[in-house]
Amino acid sequence: MLEVKDINLFYGAAQALRGVSIAAEPGKVTCVLGRNGVGKTSLLRAMVGQYPVSSGAIVFDGDDITSLKPYERARKGIGFVPQGREIFPLLTVEENLKTGFGPLKRQDKHIPDDVFSLFPVLQSMLGRRGGDLSGGQQQQLAIGRALVMRPKLLLLDEPTEGIQPSIIKDIGRAISYLRNLGSIAIVLVEQYLDFACELGDSFAVMDRGAVKFTCDRTNLDAGEISRQMAL
Ligand SMILES: Nc1ncnc2c1ncn2[C@@H]1O[C@H](COP(=O)(O)OP(=O)(O)OP(=O)(O)O)[C@@H](O)[C@H]1O
Ligand SMILES: [Mg+2]
Repeated sequence: MLEVKDINLFYGAAQALRGVSIAAEPGKVTCVLGRNGVGKTSLLRAMVGQYPVSSGAIVFDGDDITSLKPYERARKGIGFVPQGREIFPLLTVEENLKTGFGPLKRQDKHIPDDVFSLFPVLQSMLGRRGGDLSGGQQQQLAIGRALVMRPKLLLLDEPTEGIQPSIIKDIGRAISYLRNLGSIAIVLVEQYLDFACELGDSFAVMDRGAVKFTCDRTNLDAGEISRQMAL
């Protein structure tokens, strides 16, 4: 469903992605791991079209989307939960969720029930400003907003970063629920290895802009991943 093929990405003269290939499938969680600055966010930016790749291809549902604009990719069903959440602090929780309506047809512009069953706190805080929520609540809001557009591919950039353990559990449960629906492909960027190991079906460790180690659930060796991340 998603195939990233041998992409290169440059910020000016600095190369941030070097021949990266990665795949995602419905009902599976593809984990992308690696230390700070190795290119994880750059890879997601390339997938959502926030930054152009200089070569390589991104294929989604059989279509080459490499040159599509971000809103065109969103309309195809690519949802993104950015690092640092990027919710709108002055909009209410409800208004923040409704910003996810953008790519939808008029008859689909409603908030799906499972957003509130996954994150009940959002229901109880619908009228509050996004900026008044705790970091963990904002992360739940950012995930909820991405679910509003009913993505076929959901990209999550370090959803546990700076979040308290109880909310990390809620986020983990939400990701498992979404995976078990079987219809959504999930790409999870993480540095929190235990969290990724609980949820992941396949794993790619990045270093200096390249994928340098991969494994999947059947031959998962968390110690080896940890070593690869530390090297
Ligand atoms: N807009 C930009 N312009 C120039 N260089 C950038 C830009 N964004 C990122 N970089 C550089 O590209 C490299 C990869 O950054 P990226 O944000 O993709 O890493 P990351 O793995 O997501 O890191 P982190 O774990 O800290 O979020 C880094 O060296 C970073 O400094
Ligand atoms: Mg990042």
